[in-house]
Amino acid sequence: MIKKKFNTRIKARYRKNKQIIKKEINNFFDWIKGAELIILNECNTSEDPVRPELNNEFRNSYGRKIYGVRYKGKICAVMCFGFTNEIPKTVKELDLMTKDAFLKSVLRDQKIGQIAIAYTIWSKKKGGGKLIVKEVFKMIKKSNHLNRLVTLSPLTEMARNFHLHNGAIELQVNKETQNFEYKI
Ligand SMILES: CC(C)(COP(=O)(O)OP(=O)(O)OC[C@H]1O[C@@H](n2cnc3c(N)ncnc32)[C@H](O)[C@@H]1OP(=O)(O)O)[C@@H](O)C(=O)NCCC(=O)NCCS
Repeated sequence: MIKKKFNTRIKARYRKNKQIIKKEINNFFDWIKGAELIILNECNTSEDPVRPELNNEFRNSYGRKIYGVRYKGKICAVMCFGFTNEIPKTVKELDLMTKDAFLKSVLRDQKIGQIAIAYTIWSKKKGGGKLIVKEVFKMIKKSNHLNRLVTLSPLTEMARNFHLHNGAIELQVNKETQNFEYKI
């Protein structure tokens, strides 16, 4: 009798948990489906956990761009890019290399650099990190002049785990940063 009651209770709890998990999975996929990649004129730099010292002027100069994933009018993840022809190991190198690629493009064909350098990424909603990488990857794949997607990441376990889990490979570990590459 007690055993039967116990089994019924366990079964009811199992059914309830199953319903909760299903609801959470549906909510998760709803937000992924409704999200879109957009170019931002600016971002809240104090929210940037990686490079808060870089202002919006830096992030928009010499062809650099700020991308965001928008869902229901809110920005859920941000990724900032510079375009170069070499791989920077520091922000100073990123600055010089983006300027160089930009100036060459003005003299040549207006197409700035062949390598997209992601120098910061942050997410404000679970799943936003993976989603923005996926969307940026698709955008670069479609582009007719960008052929590499490389990160200039901080030397943290979080950055390392995040990029390796998302399918990037390690290019090099530097004194202050590390570079990962998403093969196009
Ligand atoms: C790293 C960051 C962008 C991940 O964004 P997120 O939306 O939480 O991540 P996702 O849900 O898309 O996770 C994608 C994968 O990354 C890994 N990951 C996510 N957060 C992680 C963390 N804190 N530590 C280690 N790995 C992590 C997971 O393996 C996950 O894969 P899974 O879903 O198969 O488990 C987010 O935690 C963040 O904004 N961190 C602070 C800024 C930062 O360190 N940026 C990265 C360096 S450039």
